[in-house]
Parts: sequence; structure tokens; C-alpha cells
Amino acid sequence: MTDTLIINARLVNEGREFDADLRVRDGRIDAIGSLSPRQGDTVVDAAGRRLLPGMIDDQVHFREPGMEYKADIATESAAAVAGGLTSFMDMPNTSPPTLDAAALEDKYARAAGRARANHGFYMGASNDNLEAVRAIDPRATPGLKVFMGASTGNMLVDDPETLDGIFRDTPVPIITHCEDTPMIDAELARYREKYGDDIPAACHPDIRSREACIRSTRLALELARRHDTRLHVLHISTADELALFEAGPLVDAEGRLRKRITAETCIHFLRFERADYERLGHQIKCNPAIKDASDREALLRALADDVIDVLATDHAPHTWEEKQAPYTRAPSGLPLVQYALVAALECVHEGHFDTARVVRKFAHAPAQLFDVKERGFLREGYWADLVLVEDTPFTVKREDVLSKCGWSPFEGTSFRSRIASTWVNGVLAWDGARITGEAAGRRLEFAR
Ligand code: DOR
Repeated sequence: MTDTLIINARLVNEGREFDADLRVRDGRIDAIGSLSPRQGDTVVDAAGRRLLPGMIDDQVHFREPGMEYKADIATESAAAVAGGLTSFMDMPNTSPPTLDAAALEDKYARAAGRARANHGFYMGASNDNLEAVRAIDPRATPGLKVFMGASTGNMLVDDPETLDGIFRDTPVPIITHCEDTPMIDAELARYREKYGDDIPAACHPDIRSREACIRSTRLALELARRHDTRLHVLHISTADELALFEAGPLVDAEGRLRKRITAETCIHFLRFERADYERLGHQIKCNPAIKDASDREALLRALADDVIDVLATDHAPHTWEEKQAPYTRAPSGLPLVQYALVAALECVHEGHFDTARVVRKFAHAPAQLFDVKERGFLREGYWADLVLVEDTPFTVKREDVLSKCGWSPFEGTSFRSRIASTWVNGVLAWDGARITGEAAGRRLEFAR
């Protein structure tokens, strides 16, 4: 492999922006500084553009195995690298669900040689796999996903004794989907009485209510405090839940985690709000629901104030046809990986926070939180997962969507930044116009 020398870049890393060159050798960052080309180098002139560590998405649904008609690891990881995301952690609500070590290893085998981004797969919890959960190899998975609210797939864990056992005994971080299912079912029944199956999409945040989120998140925190569990609560969607989490940096000066309980929000909660259901309907139907403008503002502030630790996508593609069904049958979830980083950078253009904060929440924090080995930072010796960003506006068009479902909730939206290049393990994976090279994604390693 030849060395790649990226010159005249504006590096954004660990809270700083600075001008430097960066050399890639054997897939890793060999040097950062003022560097001269050597014979045989591939030289890339960044011409002052920003160079970031590749984003690490700690929440995606790539649908494999079992729902490859919607998405698969090859197509969605291509969309991810086009969007500047170089690692992903995939959810267990596949078919079959990932409930034991064999199902987990099957996913890694499927990803080998096909994933364009680095990958980790979560184990899932059910009401009856506590033995498999206790036996998890901490180096084999980023964490255990617990659906404390029912969503796509049939993975609700609602047995109190099982939940208590999971929070007591799980040897890896627990990540939760928090929405109270009985409350949601009761609301849904009321709306069904009024509208039948054809409930207006705008009712979604009232059916999957803020109260349902708050109650379930409280329960997760209670269990975690009882057992001193490492808990990461996914996709926080309401202002109200923010008061339940501790503000402050994720790590201390030595890079050790300061928090036992952490929180994530997702890109769609920053870019959409209740008024958008009228225009986008089921395209933005997801669980938990996109709520009010005031929630969106509070979540943006919570990222700036370090109440929220991680930014992710919850990329959850469904086909266009599926999304056209009446409310009760239209599945929840939206494709996001390809435009997630540029959407986050739009928050920077709007003045909510700076690029270094996007990097902290979308690259550094997931690496720290899940003990990801040698990724998530621009550091000598680390893997060369890199993204070059330029401030050239573009408008999202359906024909450019790389996700298998072939649509995006951002169609027609203009962003002020675009992804000029993405490297995965030193291999150019996206050249600003197309996917390039072999599928260079590797299995993520967890330094535990
Ligand atoms: O909207 C969602 N879609 N929320 C989830 O929890 C699951 C996801 C999916 O898999 O479709």
C-alpha cells in the first residue's frame, strides 16, 4: 500500500482546530505535523479544508440478516462512508434477532469483506436469554441492547425480574430504548377509536408520548443506580428527560469515563420537529417520536452543555412502499447515515456549537464509551479513519441516495457542507462523487 500524505489540512480533533499535514501508512496515521512528500506518496492537497476523524455511529439498523429487501450491510455501509461515517454499531432487531453468541458471530462473518465501514454488532436481550447475556464475551460486542419499549422487531423486555437480572449481571455496557409500552398502547387505542387505521402522522408524538419516554427512562436509571450498571440511554427525544442526566464531560483528564450513566440523541431530533409531520408524514415516523420545537432546542443545548454525551443516527431504513401504508401499518424509522454528518454540520453553520463539538459527540465519545481500540481520534498510531469536509453547498436528490431503500427525508434540503473524501483504514472509500476501492471495513476491537 502506498503512503497517502494529506497536506494543508485544517485538523479538528480533541477540542482544537489547527493547520497540519497528516501521513497515512499501512492503514494507520503515521504522523501529524509539518510533513514533506516522499517518493511514491499519494499527495492530497486539502487546501485548507477540515479533516476530521471518521464518525462512529453507535446506533444503526442495517437489517441483515432477514430484511435484506430493505437494506444490507454492503449497501448501508456504502451510504455511511459517503456520509463520513467510518464505523457503525448495528442493532440486534434483525431476523433472527441477535440473542446469542452464534447469531452475533454470524453477523461478523456476513460483514467480513462486504462492510465498507468498521463494524460492531450488539447483543440483544429478551425475556428469556439471561444465561446468554451473562456469558457475553466483552471483546465480542460493544454492548447489550435492551428494548424497554416495543419497537420494530419483537424484542420487548418487560419482565421486572429479568430486567433486574440484566442490569445486575451484564458484563458490557447496557444500551436501552426507553418508551413505556403500556402507556403507548393505551394512547394508540384511543386514537384508533377516533380514526381507525388512518391516524394522521402528526399524532405520532402524542401516541408515543413524552410521558412514555420519561417513565421508561426513569425506570432504566433506577435499575442502573441500584446495580451500578454502565448504562447508555439511546435516542433521547424530550427536554424533560434531560433533567435526569448529569451534566459534565464524559471523561477525566486521563481519558477515563467519569459517568456511569450516559445519554445519546439522534440527528433527526436536531433537524425535525412537530411541524414537519405535515410535509413529511411517515418519512419521519420513528420511535421514539420526533416531538416539539422546544424539545429540539433543548437537545441542541444539551449537546452544547455536555448533558448529552453522544450523537448518533438510529438509521432505520424501510421501503418507500412500506412508508405509504396507513399509520398503524407504516413502520417506524428513517434512513440517515448518508446525510447525518452534513446535517450535524448544519447545526454548526446555525451557531449551535462548533465542529470540534460534533467531532467530540460523534467520534470521540462513542470510542471512549465503548472502549473502541485505536479509533475515533486523529492520533499517531491510530487507524486512519478520516473525513475531509468542504463548505460547498449541495441539495439532496433522490438519485444520489445510496441506501437500498432509495429515499431520504432530506430530499430537497440544501446543506452548506459536503463530504469531499472518506478514508477507512487508510483506504479511500468515498472520493466526493462515488464509492471507491475495496470494502476496507474491519471488525471493531474493544479494549476491555
Ligand atoms: O424508529 C425506529 N425504528 N425505532 C426503533 O427503535 C427501531 C427502528 C427500526 O428498527 O426500524
